[in-house]
Amino acid sequence: MQEIKWLILAAGEGKRMKSATPKVFHKVGGIPIFFRILNTAKKLNIKAGAVFGKNIEKAKKYVKDVQINIFEQTERLGTAHAVMCAKEFYADENGYTLITPGDIPLIEKNDIENFIKFTFKRDADATILAFRTNNPKGYGRVFEIDGEFFNIIEEKDANEEEKQNNLVNSGIYIFKNSLLLEYLKEVSNNNAQNEYYLTDLPYILKHKGYSIAVFKTSEEENFYGVNDRKQLSKADSIAIKRNIGKHMDNGITIYQPETVRIEDDVEIGKDTIIYPGVIIEARSKIGKNCIIKSGSIIIGSKIGANTSILEYSHIEGAEVSSNCSIGPFARLRPGTVTEEKVKIGNFVETKKAVLREGVKSSHLTYLGDCEIGENSNIGAGTITCNYDGEKKHKTIIGKNCFIGSDTQLVAPVKIGNFSYIGAGSTITSDVPECCLALSRVKQRTIKDWPKKKGKKCNN
Ligand code: UD1
Ligand code: CA
Repeated sequence: MQEIKWLILAAGEGKRMKSATPKVFHKVGGIPIFFRILNTAKKLNIKAGAVFGKNIEKAKKYVKDVQINIFEQTERLGTAHAVMCAKEFYADENGYTLITPGDIPLIEKNDIENFIKFTFKRDADATILAFRTNNPKGYGRVFEIDGEFFNIIEEKDANEEEKQNNLVNSGIYIFKNSLLLEYLKEVSNNNAQNEYYLTDLPYILKHKGYSIAVFKTSEEENFYGVNDRKQLSKADSIAIKRNIGKHMDNGITIYQPETVRIEDDVEIGKDTIIYPGVIIEARSKIGKNCIIKSGSIIIGSKIGANTSILEYSHIEGAEVSSNCSIGPFARLRPGTVTEEKVKIGNFVETKKAVLREGVKSSHLTYLGDCEIGENSNIGAGTITCNYDGEKKHKTIIGKNCFIGSDTQLVAPVKIGNFSYIGAGSTITSDVPECCLALSRVKQRTIKDWPKKKGKKCNN
């Protein structure tokens, strides 16, 4: 295959977004628009470059960890001018350049793959990706005569009759590099917007005798452009709907899918059931046969097979193993790791907590910076006091321990295997294996105390 590179035009100011964040770094489906495009390039193994404008300093921060050539368009003089600013990118005269806008989050790998194949099969000098739409407003209109490309007329330059044409320019093209190098400079800004339009280049090339082909697709939605917040949320809804559709096709039950949000790159195993109002984000991985009940939010976490996440649980940066039961109303914070058959019940919060197989913590508890050995039971109201006002300290509980209700474990502290802590204890020093530790004040019971105080003791 001929060498082809992908140039993303993103020097527009995105004014209509009214945002301090450059438009192309707003998220759709949980991933910045720009990275959705880059991911497509990556999947196709195409080297990418981008033109940024006034937003370049901010943009550079966003892309600092990716391999990409960046070019600057200091003045926004139009799409042809933007392409000229990236000359070094297409300096190889034998190659091709795919040019796309930076604000099309819904583009699919297949669209680009088919477009490239079409270009090479036709051996065209330049190609334009176009589609028919019932709502052509705002797009450049693509005209053909006898099935041959004729020209593109921008909405603002079109007369009423021309505006009736519903074959529109997606803003996606492929050009031979040699032609970009030689003829871009012939594009003028003699038009309604006084801009150098890239859309004029195919017309110029055609008149020089080069072959221009129009690739038509019916996948209009894939080229949806984001210019304002309403379009951003529409694109996001489409992306989420696609994700949900894909998961259902893969054998996942999702009830009332219109209430569920599953962002991009989430993995879910077969026969998992997802109830209304669930949110799953940030590349979470859910095993098979899980149940995720309503209102639960899972962010950047792994959930093993056969695990239940009961209503309104919030799980972030956690690894939950298989056959566990979490919630309702549990909060698992980053660094929580559970082995199999762990139970974390209502109003339990965990953070940097490792719970070995079979640990149970069923109610009202804070487990932070701790390790709990297998089959230990943590009573209601237990608190690991991990913070002394300056530093965090660890609590280590052995296996098969029983921590009575309302225990405070003042870290750093260790409880040996098979030990018991009496309810209501404040444990400040280590407890060896196989002990009972108690630290509560001995109970006093004073007979007839109420009577002596003149209070009633019968009806
Ligand atoms: C452009 C096309 C139009 C097409 C539409 C598809 C032109 C003249 N028109 O119109 O035919 O139907 O896209 O969405 O190309 N940009 C720069 N530098 C500039 C101007 C624009 O980098 O000086 C970038 C923008 O950031 C954007 C892309 O180029 O990503 C397209 O620019 P935009 O102003 O959105 O063009 P449209 O009016 O949508
Ligand atoms: Ca646009």
